[in-house]
Amino acid sequence: MARWFHLSSFSANKLNGLSCVFLFLADIISTVEFNATGELLATGDKGGRVVVFQREQESKNQPHRRGEYNVYSTFQSHEPEFDYLKSLEIEEKINKIRWLPQQNAAYFLLSTNDKTVKLWKISERDKRPEGYNLKDEDGRIRDPTTITALRVPVLRPMDLMVEATARRIFANGHTYHINSISVNSDYETYMSTDDLRINLWNLEITNRSFNIVDIKPANMEDLTEVITAAEFHPSHCNTFVYSSSKGSVRLCDMRASALCDNHCKFFEEPEDPNNRSFFSEIISSISDVKFSHNGRYLMTRDYLTVKVWDLNMENKPLETYQVHDYLRSKLCSLYENDCIFDKFECVWNGSDSVIMTGSYNNFFRMFDRNTKRDVTLEASRENSKPRAILKPRKVCVGGKRRKDEISVDSLDFSKKILHTAWHPSENIIAVAATNNLYIFQDKTVVSS
Ligand SMILES: *[C@@H]1O[C@H](CO)[C@@H](O)[C@H](O)[C@H]1NC(C)=O
Ligand SMILES: *[C@@H]1O[C@H](CO)[C@@H](O)[C@H](O)[C@H]1NC(C)=O
Ligand SMILES: *[C@@H]1O[C@H](CO)[C@@H](O)[C@H](O)[C@H]1NC(C)=O
Ligand SMILES: *[C@@H]1O[C@H](CO)[C@@H](O)[C@H](O)[C@H]1NC(C)=O
Repeated sequence: MARWFHLSSFSANKLNGLSCVFLFLADIISTVEFNATGELLATGDKGGRVVVFQREQESKNQPHRRGEYNVYSTFQSHEPEFDYLKSLEIEEKINKIRWLPQQNAAYFLLSTNDKTVKLWKISERDKRPEGYNLKDEDGRIRDPTTITALRVPVLRPMDLMVEATARRIFANGHTYHINSISVNSDYETYMSTDDLRINLWNLEITNRSFNIVDIKPANMEDLTEVITAAEFHPSHCNTFVYSSSKGSVRLCDMRASALCDNHCKFFEEPEDPNNRSFFSEIISSISDVKFSHNGRYLMTRDYLTVKVWDLNMENKPLETYQVHDYLRSKLCSLYENDCIFDKFECVWNGSDSVIMTGSYNNFFRMFDRNTKRDVTLEASRENSKPRAILKPRKVCVGGKRRKDEISVDSLDFSKKILHTAWHPSENIIAVAATNNLYIFQDKTVVSS
């Protein structure tokens, strides 16, 4: 069997993990992201908070404890706001987090809600200065008449403190809701994407951005399509893609023109006329698009499938994986309960050989591109006993149900896995299931 049938859970209720998970992630998790080496994991939630976890260093006496992620820093990234011009509440929910590469002792990440992107600096402090000349230890200005001698301030050790400070606030760049942010491989710029426009920012400059895509029609009544996600190429800093609610992906080159309304590649699969229904357009809307790490492929997620595209083949995907094809007969009720509009994300593993994406009933799916094997796993507290091995789950459609199967009609559609992340170089995955964060790790890593 493929190695990832043995993913075993370790974080959720081992150590102090469980309590932390429930304590800090009191709200619905809205994004999960590893940093480029996988040692840090950030989550954002509906309440505007960011929680950063750090992986424990391996210790000789307890080798099995390697890999546990503990809370490193928690901070309030966004607050609810009110747009008086439009009489609209702006939610504090964190839509996306993106890490910047580490350049000094501090860590930097970008977080965004619907309107405002913030650059956060997370740094450690274990010393504090003492013995200022002009102020006392509490920061109050000293009475000059009492200053009789010149002191040399000293640094005294104190308990390690992790501080998060907002270094830049990129506001007023978006009229519509921001769905994506993506850091460019030049590490000097990033782009932010809303329903109709994509803006390019310099990480140092907050009062100015460049509009690089604008699909807003002159008359909003002509609007037929919105942008759903966008991402920079992992190594070509001039290239990016964006996906649309009509099931297409456009690849643009910023060298071609300042405003990239004319894409240079257009990826779309013609609809199968036999499958056309009232729901066709809704379920073909792309909820996520991701470049593979090597930059050769694109992966898109729509409501029922994940597709892998070769950048050199625009007219059809290279591979199509059914995530939960058994829902095809349930689209009507999924429309009525609004689930059909859920935005599932998708991720690659570090070597681009395996794909992961979420489903309902706290199920998530993995597809091995080489062996064509696939598996359905479940994120649940019963499953997350230390070193328990996740059992593959099966959904049965009609007919007789075997003992270990679950029928389509008993799936819980309120439990959905929209956000997941895969460690960049190991088989460690983070799965957000409403308020709970599960971190699963390959058994071979735990026992080695
Ligand atoms: C990711 O975080 C770890 C901190 O534990 C750090 O050592 C590493 O440099 C970070 N990686 C990058 C590429 O920023
Ligand atoms: C942005 O701010 C900088 C420095 O505060 C200022 O010099 C510059 O003119 C501003 N640019 C715009 C477009 O407002
Ligand atoms: C059409 O529907 C069938 C199942 O009903 C599915 O297997 C097939 O992939 C669909 N075709 C397209 C192009 O979506
Ligand atoms: C995914 O990629 C990582 C990093 O390259 C690799 O170590 C791992 O074995 C891959 N996972 C699977 C299930 O193939």
